Amino acid sequence: MVITVASDHAGFDLKKKVIDHLEKKGYQVLEGGAQSADVPFNYVEAGQKVAADILEGKAQRGIAICGTGIGISIVCNKHKGIRCGLCNNEYMARMLRQHNDGNVLAFGARVVGQALALNMVDAFLDEGFAGERHAQRVGDITAQEERLFK
Ligand code: RB5
Repeated sequence: MVITVASDHAGFDLKKKVIDHLEKKGYQVLEGGAQSADVPFNYVEAGQKVAADILEGKAQRGIAICGTGIGISIVCNKHKGIRCGLCNNEYMARMLRQHNDGNVLAFGARVVGQALALNMVDAFLDEGFAGERHAQRVGDITAQEERLFK
């Protein structure tokens, strides 16, 4: 599975830790966004990169990091076919997959610490979609996208 990971400057240090963690686990990683914590990088561009990599089939899952996780998760969710969840704990990251069939995990580097972030990443990548009643609801989201984003 290929994972695309991008951040703005606020998420840069944590992004590097996440990429290191993913590569040690054997995942292929695409990196986008800030190349330094010291040079401002717009979270909009970072979120667009994560979404584009998935929608173009270059990656199957994405991880999006900014200061709070709010801005970059909003950007990701403006793309048809992206289901991004802003998570603050491992349970939310697990449910993002199980109930929402999420394809992008977002979090805030100024909100969560490294250990929690890596636990959320693992939960997000290990968990499967539960289907059944949740498939109906995710299908409703897709139908809404079809209506709104022609
Ligand atoms: C950058 O200062 C900050 O605004 C950004 O990382 C993010 O928190 C936006 O939602």
